[in-house]
Formats: sequence, structure tokens, C-alpha cells
Amino acid sequence: MTKQESFQQEFEDHVRKGLTSSPKFLSSKYIYDDKGDALFQQIMALPEYYLTNAEYNIMERYAPDLRKRFGNDKGFDLIELGAGDGKKTKVLLSELINHQTNFTYIPIDISQHALDDLAERLTAEWPELEIQPEQGTYFKVLKELSSYNARPKVIMVLGSNIGNLKHEAAIQFLHEIQESMSPADLLFMGFDQKKDPLTIQTAYADPTGVTQEFNRNLLHRLNREFGADFPVEIFEHWEAYDPESGTAKSYLIATKACKVRLEKLNLNIDFRQWETIHTEISQKYDDPTVEWLAEQASLEIEEIFEDSDHLFKDYLFRKQ
Ligand code: AVJ
Repeated sequence: MTKQESFQQEFEDHVRKGLTSSPKFLSSKYIYDDKGDALFQQIMALPEYYLTNAEYNIMERYAPDLRKRFGNDKGFDLIELGAGDGKKTKVLLSELINHQTNFTYIPIDISQHALDDLAERLTAEWPELEIQPEQGTYFKVLKELSSYNARPKVIMVLGSNIGNLKHEAAIQFLHEIQESMSPADLLFMGFDQKKDPLTIQTAYADPTGVTQEFNRNLLHRLNREFGADFPVEIFEHWEAYDPESGTAKSYLIATKACKVRLEKLNLNIDFRQWETIHTEISQKYDDPTVEWLAEQASLEIEEIFEDSDHLFKDYLFRKQ
């Protein structure tokens, strides 16, 4: 099976399982086709979605400290998992380049298109930047890199992407990164923090409805790719933040009963009125929780960086 075919198989199995389960679910990872990527870009520009600006603030506040932490005479590889549009990363790159730091920037992404675009923009701005984009899944590329690369590395994962994983899967994710690290390597990762519940709730239930469109894109995608006939407009976005667990959960709720056919899966699904599809979790953290996750993954926290409004933190980890 090609990579494309196995992705497709996994996607089909997931949709069949999710829509025939009770309660129903679909994974947020399938929101991100081209339309979904564009909607997430729109979310990042929303005033309610504080995460992006908060982490940008951390990069600006601490770029010089990070440069001193990361830099060494042998040079290092700055490996970024899921680089996105590079807005936050550029703050750090600029600091490193302005101080003639010896490093190679290695963005990893599954999208070759996103990588080409990023590399083109960065090279136009800084012709002297050593950049080595790697297309592939995070762990496959990380393994390949650690097998031939002797330089110390800094692995960077911005944006609280880990929040889409339940704790068990988050530990597994951290542990796989840990296994690709040498004692001299560092992991720099963003974790959105517990805070005033309404601030979180509003970040994921914006009044303009961009987040609703983002969530609904899952159904549009099933309509496009699985020959499905979801009446998308009757599915309303709902966000529920639980301040005790720190879990923000997204749903699509059928405001009317309906029948849906997914032609490609030869599958018929009934929705009762007010039936839910759970689509995403965005976990919020505090220091004890991150310490516990790190411990479980054989990592230790070396330093914590916070934005000036106390909304978001980036943690620097080392192998235990
Ligand atoms: C890309 C996982 C960081 O959970 O905050 C934004 C995705 N979902 N609004 C998040 C998202 C709804 C986002 N991450």
C-alpha cells in the first residue's frame, strides 16, 4: 500500500467506526484538508483565539534567552514539527541569524506544498539561512535524522498541538520524541494553560462562527470525499470547557433528526434530534500536569517560558 492508500484506509475505518458508535465521534485531524488549513489560518487571526498572540509574545520576550540556551560551538539543528506559516518561528530565526548563530533549520511537515512555500519565503528573506525541509510523518523523519546526525538538536513543537491528544496519547507522543533524543538535545513545546473558563470557551466558540465553519469542514469533507449528503447547516458547533479536567470539547449537534448516506462506504446513518458528534479536544494544562506528562515520558522540565498575560507556556525539556 502507498502512503496515500493507507491514509485513505485509516480515514475510512475511522469514519465508519466513529459514526456507528454511540455516542458518535470523528477525529479533528480530518478537519485539515486545504479548506480546513485555510480556516485554521482564519482562526489564528481571530481576536478571541488568544493562543497565537500569546506564544508570539513568548518568542519575542525570550528569543535572546532561547538563542543562548540553544547555541553552542558545534552548531545545532533546529527541528520543527508542523511548522505552519512560520510567523512565530521567524522571531527566533531572526534572533539566531542576527547573531550569526551556527544552526540548520529543519522544518518537518506532511505537506510538501506547505514546506515549499515556507522555504521559499524564508530564503527570500534570509538567503544565508541554512534550511533543510523534510517531508514526512514526524517520527519517521525524527528517526532518520537521529540516525545520521551527530549535532545536538532542538526539537520544537509550537501551538499547543499536543492539546488535541488525550493524556495517554500525549505521553506516547512525548515518549516517541524522547526516544529520538540524545542527552544533549532539547525539546521546546507549547502547552496552553488553564485560565478563566470563559476566555477558553470563547476562543473555541467565536461569535463570528469561523470555528463553527472549521468544525463543520469535517462534514463538508465527508460530503466531498465519501459521496455523503450531510445537511451541514443543521449541524451546530458546540463547545464545552470543563475547568476541572481542563478539557475543551467540541461537538457538532444535529438540531433536527436526519438520515445521511455515505455512498463510498455504503453506509446509512441516522441522527436523532440533538444527537452529537464529538470532534475535538483542546486540552489545557498547568505545571503539575505537564510535570506528570514529562515524568511519564522520561523527560524533565528544564525551564518554563510564559507570555506577559499569563495565558500560555512553552516548556523546555531534556531527556531524564
Ligand atoms: C491546532 C490543535 C492548536 O486546539 O487550539 C482551534 C485547533 N480548534 N480552534 C487548538 C483549533 C479549534 C488548535 N490546535
